[in-house]
Amino acid sequence: METIKRTKISEILDPALYGSTVCVKGWVRTRRGNKNVSFIALNDGSTLKNIQIVVDLAKFDEEQLKPVTTGACLCVTGKLVESMGKGQTAEVQADHIEVYGSADPNEYPLQKKGHSLEFLREIAHLRPRTNTFGAVLRIRHHLAYAIHKYFNDHGFFYLNTPLITASDCEGAGAMFQVTTLDLNNLPRTEEGKIDYSQDFFGKQTSLTVSGQLEGELGAMALGGIYTFGPTFRAENSNTPRHLAEFWMIEPEVAFNDINDNMDLAEDFLKYCIRYALDHCADDLNFLCEMYDKELINHLRFVVDNDFVRLPYSEGIKILEESHHKFEFPVYWGADLQSEHERFLVEQHFKKPVILTDYPKEIKAFYMKLNDDGKTVRAMDVLFPRIGEIIGGSEREADYNKLLQRIEELNIPMKDMWWYLDTRRFGTAPHSGFGLGFERLVLFVTGMTNIRDVIPFPRTPKSAEF
Ligand code: 4AD
Ligand code: MG
Repeated sequence: METIKRTKISEILDPALYGSTVCVKGWVRTRRGNKNVSFIALNDGSTLKNIQIVVDLAKFDEEQLKPVTTGACLCVTGKLVESMGKGQTAEVQADHIEVYGSADPNEYPLQKKGHSLEFLREIAHLRPRTNTFGAVLRIRHHLAYAIHKYFNDHGFFYLNTPLITASDCEGAGAMFQVTTLDLNNLPRTEEGKIDYSQDFFGKQTSLTVSGQLEGELGAMALGGIYTFGPTFRAENSNTPRHLAEFWMIEPEVAFNDINDNMDLAEDFLKYCIRYALDHCADDLNFLCEMYDKELINHLRFVVDNDFVRLPYSEGIKILEESHHKFEFPVYWGADLQSEHERFLVEQHFKKPVILTDYPKEIKAFYMKLNDDGKTVRAMDVLFPRIGEIIGGSEREADYNKLLQRIEELNIPMKDMWWYLDTRRFGTAPHSGFGLGFERLVLFVTGMTNIRDVIPFPRTPKSAEF
């Protein structure tokens, strides 16, 4: 048997190939038929679509077809013909079937019937083989590509910031420690504290919560940079919007003020969503039909409308005057909860909102202080269904003001000297933000739990796979 190069199913629905002999490889989704003919729906992940394999049982013996079960992996060669059946455009009339691997029907968990998303989370090693997760993971890929493309096309440089760090960017103290010390036999200093000088890096280190501080160093040399990497937060938030390990995109731009920063955030988000609409039509239509009939309308709406821009103080006023019953209290100075953010976006403005100028007490140390001395030039982008999707700010470029804030917050200076140096040597106004990648994927796919938009979620008490 001469070997034929494999064709992906995404490429096979090309009428130019009709009539030729093709080779397809993939996993069996379903098998049905009668005593004369078997129909196998084969999927190789390249597209949501299956290719139908038609097996004339007169040409194959029964023993050979026994291992062709749901979940089995096959290599099929045969003639590609236009299909007469409903719902598909082409099918392969099998001449030869090689079974790479069967899947025991009594054990393979993804049999034909639909499964709950909760159940699929327990089999995250197999769920990419379902239509839903195939669609989500392909959309996730296209969004990642769109992000790199956007920044590349706009003259930004991709900067890789460290994952292991000795500084706490957000100052929230939610860091995972990194150590090679023997936890059962910790070295102690004379005062009885853990002696980190004996640790791998000679000091206490953690997984990063954000690449921003190093990103700023890049921006103050290259002009405009972005990071796109994993970040880690040990906050014990068991919500549908928090992960302990998530991916963040952080552009940082020299000479941008808060307004430029908002323009960038809005343009960038719209570009990514438009990219998904243009490149993921099959997968989006599927998710729209299965989970949220309004999904595509919502995406178009965000792309086609201006975001509202509003100071925090005015946002608080709207929330107070709404007399809506919130679980968490609303007052000037309160950190907004997702219920407040969603009220502003979904009920009040019915549009994405960029909230600015938050009280300095509820924001990180590096944000530029406003002239009122009370608020900082922060900006959070709030989305329907998601709440906060982006957090960012103009940065404090003044050495003395930054130093004062670091001291007020008791941030250890020995960890910060290099960051302060940017303000000592050629400081400049600059701004940036962080987009939570999974929150964007959540919004675009219409899924409701962040655990369903990352292949292998890491959450409190859960690090399986
Ligand atoms: O608002 P955050 O904490 O901002 C920063 O880390 C800044 N250093 C960013 C910057 O200015 N360069 O996080 C940014 C975004 C949030 O808006 C949210 O979308 C996402 O990261 N995020 C999370 N996503 C999933 N799980 C979590 N636990 C998240 N925490 C934040
Ligand atoms: Mg934030």
